[in-house]
Amino acid sequence: MAKRRAVGLLLTALLQTACIGAEYKPQFAWEQEVFSANATAQASLTGCAAACTLLEWTAYLSVNQPNTFEYDGDKQSYWSAQQASVSPRCFVQPNNAEEVAAIIRILERTDCPFAVRSGGHGAFTGASNIPDGVTIDLRRLNEVNVSEDRSTTRVGAGNHWIDVYDRLTPMNLSVVGGRVTGIGVGGLTLGGGISFFSGRRGWACDGVRNYELVTADGSILDVNYKSYPDYYWALRGGGNNFGIVTHFDLETFEQGPMWGGVTVNSMEHNASLIQALVDFTNNSPTDPDGANWVAFVYAQTYGQWIASTELVYAKPVENPAILKNFTAIPNIHSTLRFSNLTDLSREVNQSNPDGMRQTWTTMTFKNDPRVMQASLDIWKEEILPIQNITGLVPALVFQSIPVDVIRHFSKNGGNCLGMDLEDGPLILVNIATMWASTSDDEAVLSTLERLTERSTAKAEELGLSHKYLYQNYAGQYQDVYSSYGETNRQRLLEISKKYDPKQVFQRLQPGYFKLGA
Ligand SMILES: Cc1cc2nc3c(=O)[nH]c(=O)nc-3n(C[C@H](O)[C@H](O)[C@H](O)COP(=O)(O)OP(=O)(O)OC[C@H]3O[C@@H](n4cnc5c(N)ncnc54)[C@H](O)[C@@H]3O)c2cc1C
Ligand SMILES: *[C@@H]1O[C@H](CO)[C@@H](O)[C@H](O)[C@H]1NC(C)=O
Ligand SMILES: *[C@@H]1O[C@H](CO)[C@@H](O)[C@H](O)[C@H]1NC(C)=O
Ligand SMILES: *[C@@H]1O[C@H](CO)[C@@H](O)[C@H](O)[C@H]1NC(C)=O
Ligand SMILES: *[C@@H]1O[C@H](CO)[C@@H](O)[C@H](O)[C@H]1NC(C)=O
Ligand SMILES: *[C@@H]1O[C@H](CO)[C@@H](O)[C@H](O)[C@H]1NC(C)=O
Ligand SMILES: *[C@@H]1O[C@H](CO)[C@@H](O)[C@H](O)[C@H]1NC(C)=O
Ligand SMILES: *[C@@H]1O[C@H](CO)[C@@H](O)[C@H](O)[C@H]1NC(C)=O
Ligand SMILES: *[C@@H]1O[C@H](CO)[C@@H](O)[C@H](O)[C@H]1NC(C)=O
Repeated sequence: MAKRRAVGLLLTALLQTACIGAEYKPQFAWEQEVFSANATAQASLTGCAAACTLLEWTAYLSVNQPNTFEYDGDKQSYWSAQQASVSPRCFVQPNNAEEVAAIIRILERTDCPFAVRSGGHGAFTGASNIPDGVTIDLRRLNEVNVSEDRSTTRVGAGNHWIDVYDRLTPMNLSVVGGRVTGIGVGGLTLGGGISFFSGRRGWACDGVRNYELVTADGSILDVNYKSYPDYYWALRGGGNNFGIVTHFDLETFEQGPMWGGVTVNSMEHNASLIQALVDFTNNSPTDPDGANWVAFVYAQTYGQWIASTELVYAKPVENPAILKNFTAIPNIHSTLRFSNLTDLSREVNQSNPDGMRQTWTTMTFKNDPRVMQASLDIWKEEILPIQNITGLVPALVFQSIPVDVIRHFSKNGGNCLGMDLEDGPLILVNIATMWASTSDDEAVLSTLERLTERSTAKAEELGLSHKYLYQNYAGQYQDVYSSYGETNRQRLLEISKKYDPKQVFQRLQPGYFKLGA
């Protein structure tokens, strides 16, 4: 134990004092021994087995190795069954940015591929877990600390939104964050982040005042509009490509009680729901306190095709004018009520259980009922033949990107998503599908691929498609960064090369969406 501690201190010292960005120079006798003794010694310190050992025994970090209760728990904590079936060489759970920096330096030295996990809601294999690599699980970065003047909240990147809302709602405060309690702060914020408050304040990435970021060489930077404007722009939509965010300082605002809930309509009302969404999307700038989504779903248990609509108003006003075209449609079930953010986001959490197989894909349309109607018809036609697959819950979800939201994308130097005011208003499409068994993967995935292709082609034919692909809803074969526009993608690549010259986050972190060549 004494040796372990001593070596641990040495490595920590090494990691903290080594010259950032320079070529590796041994500084300590011990370091000489471990990293540069001779070719044999070096070879034995390459790869993820070595990385896991170094993390645990020399850097003194919390590591969960296979065949332990903790390791199995880490695996089971992913949302999708696909991610939960991936076995990394080990999980490591850092307590602070310094430990994240130590981890990155060891992974870089040992050339060990890694993944980073916040809330674990990325759906596909490898999004935030990695076979035979090291998975950096941020769950211990769980600080939620409101500044004295109540204008910002420092949020650890391993929190779920419920941790943030449980703290803020009783203080009559809020932030621009996820709408479902179980989602991670990390992934949602780095991909964009649609919130109930987006009409007033943009997406979650637009509400970040400062990122505490660990870079490829193990530096810890405060990245904000003043300190590193280019890096800040890239992080507002750049996913996992630019470093590991350890804390977000989120703009915080007064937020009291709200009104909202879920209504369920029978499928025959599809045209009225689509028209209500088109009107809402056009009219949102007149009252940015309204928010909603419209989901068409096949409810296998009841053998029914239905529409499930989330309606939310950020003030305690019953049935506000901006949402009246939805509430006027006859429903078969409604939970509309006076409520608050914690309560509303818990309610929608219930329809997203852990442990199912999941696949998501995305498209963006112009705000026109014809293209939504056409994609609904294609969706239903394609889903019908697989409707009885065990546990299948297929959903086609439409949401607004009104111009009041897009207006916030340009504040503080803008985000990198590539949408301008003249692009809007837009409709974001999310085709979300869950099912129970691996034996149905082929049937489900081929159906989804075909239906996405057909819908995209139809939208193009109608002249109502838009290039944008929302990272947080995209399927693994979709080219998210090209959809930001070639100018933005090239700028992202330049920023990546500037701050990560060895391309650690591109090369050693293969999962999720990459910038490309
Ligand atoms: C049930 C459900 C509800 C949803 N609701 C919303 C919603 O209301 N609004 C919305 O916009 N989206 C929503 N989404 C989509 C959601 O934003 C994405 O799935 C998001 O990636 C989840 O983030 P996570 O941290 O939970 O996932 P993870 O799988 O942990 O992370 C996703 C990706 O981000 C990277 N990442 C995470 N944290 C960091 C970090 N600190 N530093 C560097 N990289 C990091 C990971 O490496 C991974 O590649 C929802 C998803 C689900 C499943
Ligand atoms: C190389 O390093 C290994 C491990 O430290 C050691 O066992 C071996 O004797 C060294 N070989 C030489 C030629 O120094
Ligand atoms: C919250 O932040 C303040 C400084 O703004 C700091 O003094 C305090 O220790 C922090 N609290 C926690 C629990 O981290
Ligand atoms: C939020 O609403 C729920 C349900 O009405 C209620 O139980 C809870 O106390 C409310 N929370 C706050 C902080 O007002
Ligand atoms: C929150 O607002 C309510 C109603 O306006 C008020 O009664 C309560 O004292 C406030 N709580 C805090 C912590 O400010
Ligand atoms: C939409 O509703 C109409 C009736 O209003 C119905 O004929 C049509 O089948 C519905 N569309 C779908 C995809 O269910
Ligand atoms: C409600 O629907 C009517 C008729 O389509 C439309 O003129 C109006 O703008 C809509 N209102 C809102 C708030 O969307
Ligand atoms: C949200 O749902 C997930 C999956 O069912 C569950 O594990 C989690 O505890 C839920 N969170 C809350 C706050 O209810
Ligand atoms: C699915 O099951 C229902 C009810 O048993 C049946 O009517 C329907 O034809 C089945 N669909 C397919 C594609 O097999």
